[in-house]
Amino acid sequence: MTAQIIDGKALSKQLREGFKARVGALVAQGVTPGLAVILVGDNPASRVYVGNKVKACEECGVRSFHIALPGDTLESEVLATIARLNADPAVHGILIQLPLPPHIDGRKVLEAISVHKDVDGFHLYNVGGLVVGNTIFPPCTPYGVQLLLDTTGTDVAGKNVVVVGASNIVGKPMALMLLQREATVTICHAKTRDLAQHTILADILIVAAGKPGLIVPQMVKQGAIVIDVGINRLADGRIVGDVDFDGVKEKASWITPVPGGVGPMTVTMLIENTLRSAERALRMRQTDDYQDWEAPVLKGH
Ligand code: GUN
Repeated sequence: MTAQIIDGKALSKQLREGFKARVGALVAQGVTPGLAVILVGDNPASRVYVGNKVKACEECGVRSFHIALPGDTLESEVLATIARLNADPAVHGILIQLPLPPHIDGRKVLEAISVHKDVDGFHLYNVGGLVVGNTIFPPCTPYGVQLLLDTTGTDVAGKNVVVVGASNIVGKPMALMLLQREATVTICHAKTRDLAQHTILADILIVAAGKPGLIVPQMVKQGAIVIDVGINRLADGRIVGDVDFDGVKEKASWITPVPGGVGPMTVTMLIENTLRSAERALRMRQTDDYQDWEAPVLKGH
């Protein structure tokens, strides 16, 4: 069997087409959706990611505020920048590109972002929301993976899902989202013994480990759906995922390519969350008796 390709580029394009009408409706009501992207330092990979996010904003009619701070910026200055953006009604989403320089406490910075503008979904409120199945903003990469899985027509309920990688950005939220959909979820990580013993049982295998070639065909069940979240640059300049694509595609029923799979979806879901935030802001403005029902504990934050 040769797997069918899950085309993230095509799905992204289709979703971004659909954004046009939503942006048009917002603009007609006097709201231009706005996303602030903060980059501290000059990590080359982060610069590329931020560049892609700003470009996607332009394509979709979202105003972007690109804030580039030097690598030696004080934590207090980053916090002051966030406070200013929290208070700015033209900004509906605030994203701080990770990783941050080591002298800055990442958790403190993420907690400073208003939950109403946390379009990356990394604030504790949104993380906690995932646990109980009710986030305002689902984190972008797992959100994109979920939509990619949906295109295969598979109901994940009762399926064995194995997530390889336990990061706060991908692995953990991915596991929680699929648990919410009643999958049987296993999370594997760097300390997992005999990874293959777990992966071979997966009906759906999601790999976000950052290790090129980690998953080889012997580790994959016949007919599995394989989602490769890895983006690795090899010494020869090629970009590859964590999965041996050529080998595994002969065993899987569906597989995402790298590039062109999960990557474009992450940026697209960021725009989705930004539009949702702008729509919420408009609703808040329009609804006289609006109650802050989605974030009662953190009202005023
Ligand atoms: N660094 C790597 N992935 C991400 C992401 O999805 N969001 C942010 N803010 N930083 C990242």
